[in-house]
Amino acid sequence: MEVVVGTTPGDAARRAAEAVLAGLPTDGDRDPVLGLATGSSPLGLYRELGRAVAEGRVDFSRTHGIALDEYVGLPPGHPEGYRQVLLREVCGVIGLAPERLAVPDGSATDLPSLVAAARAYEERIRQLGGVDVQILGIGANGHLGFNEPGSALTSRTRVKRLSERTRRDNARFFTGLDDVPTHCVTQGLGTILAARRLVLVATGDAKAEAVAAALEGPLSASVPASVLQWHPDTVVCLDEAAASALRNRQYYDDAAAGLPER
Ligand code: GLP
Repeated sequence: MEVVVGTTPGDAARRAAEAVLAGLPTDGDRDPVLGLATGSSPLGLYRELGRAVAEGRVDFSRTHGIALDEYVGLPPGHPEGYRQVLLREVCGVIGLAPERLAVPDGSATDLPSLVAAARAYEERIRQLGGVDVQILGIGANGHLGFNEPGSALTSRTRVKRLSERTRRDNARFFTGLDDVPTHCVTQGLGTILAARRLVLVATGDAKAEAVAAALEGPLSASVPASVLQWHPDTVVCLDEAAASALRNRQYYDDAAAGLPER
């Protein structure tokens, strides 16, 4: 696990963008697959990727985008549905074709249809050859995607109940708490772990405790983001505030400095 602490949120976003670009295949044998997260944390990273496109350093026109999760029960086209959010906040910014964006289908309201949609999503990821780089944020309760505390560490895409904490945190995007869906379809922790590289971005004081528990606490379903410890290629990009509760900070900085010059 590589832990990179930027001086500012912008610096963390730049480092995260470099980690994403370094993890994408360049051989041209198959189309790259980029896992996308919603939330405010990766917005700076998407802007940095957009800048790399403008500078001609990368081209996402052949890249497939795979969303982490979607709410259940929002009507198609709802502005806070994650398909619309990703179309708005990512596709336009990095030049990803909307028809190459896959988002779990949460539009059904009966369980068998949602279970079928979750299976179909896993199959779609498999058909694409798996995710090359999965971008992640972290919930204040340690969730990844919508894998709430208690999620099985090997879980695959499925229907989940949202915790009240998450519904309250996300109520700012809706007219009120009552309008926040109670359920979602989310990639499982096992699905996320199958991506070849994970890049997590977290900024601000509100994430400090969750980041410390995920990176330095025990591997536990109670802190879903602690599965990052299980993955062989994880890069965590933080700003000073999000890194403020880490105990091993000096070690991360030493490791980031690389081999000594001779
Ligand atoms: C939502 C998303 C997560 C995201 C989290 C944190 O719950 N499902 O993928 O990581 O919000 O959001 P923010 O980055 O806005 O704090």
